[in-house]
Amino acid sequence: MIEISRIDHVGLRVTDLDEATTRWSEQFGLRLAGREEHVARLACDDEPCALELLAGAAGGFDHVAYELAAGCGLEQARAHLEQFGAQVTDDGEGGIETHDADGNSIRLIGHRQPPSLLVPHARPAANPAPGHPRKLGHVNFLTGNLTEQVRFYTDALGMHLTDWLGDGGVWFHVNTDHHVMALIDKGAPHLHHLAFDVIDIGQMRAALDHLGRHGRWLGWGPTRHGVGGNIASYVRIVEEECFVELYCDMEQLQAGHRPRRWPDDRFSSNTWGPLPPRSYFRFDQAAIESERESLEMLGIPLGEESR
Ligand SMILES: [Fe+2]
Repeated sequence: MIEISRIDHVGLRVTDLDEATTRWSEQFGLRLAGREEHVARLACDDEPCALELLAGAAGGFDHVAYELAAGCGLEQARAHLEQFGAQVTDDGEGGIETHDADGNSIRLIGHRQPPSLLVPHARPAANPAPGHPRKLGHVNFLTGNLTEQVRFYTDALGMHLTDWLGDGGVWFHVNTDHHVMALIDKGAPHLHHLAFDVIDIGQMRAALDHLGRHGRWLGWGPTRHGVGGNIASYVRIVEEECFVELYCDMEQLQAGHRPRRWPDDRFSSNTWGPLPPRSYFRFDQAAIESERESLEMLGIPLGEESR
């Protein structure tokens, strides 16, 4: 038996730790919660860590960490993963590490009681910045291996299926949030985005104004997702080769939820309007340049990706 209760943090490799720590803190309103020589831990408020920045040769994805439920210890989780056939090692920080079917590093940490039982936004503040995100809410990965990935996230990690988008997209939940994790079948593995919860579109507006004035742009959005119901804006992160989604108003699931299969159409993706440009699913230089100048909307198609 294995039971995850929440996503804890995402780990990203960065080429310049000081630069990245300042950039993520100032642009997204994150608080520096801990700093060692090669690691910086950033938090939305009083949680230990939402984003771990690790000094590395190239910027990009390193790992995702999930917290186990109170009734599921690390040894239980390890035994479950080994029974599934996964390799499990100690993560060096008191948790365990395994890898999904695409080789993405997944870390599990033991359950911890939060410092207060009040909801986070009613606790005495740890973050001095007004309007910071409430929490890290989910991650989304591109994959070329959807069947094996679905098997890993359900059977090995014990996540529950929420919805299918045709047969090319799938969302998983571990609590009442519509999703903590999602996969899109796009031929090759890549972290697509990590997502921060903001309270409403007013806070999103303030954050997007701030990000726009710091040279950031949206790859897509604001959208209203037909599936999941969240309002979402996707901020391009060139440096760490991913997007940050700012979202609010996500569907809250009821007990006994049964997975649904939705048509893969424009309305399922965005009830308010357009599908994303094709650059949204890519992280190569041509896609970034095209997106920066909105070339697809000007009638200049994005060429094939050269790998
Ligand atoms: Fe998302």
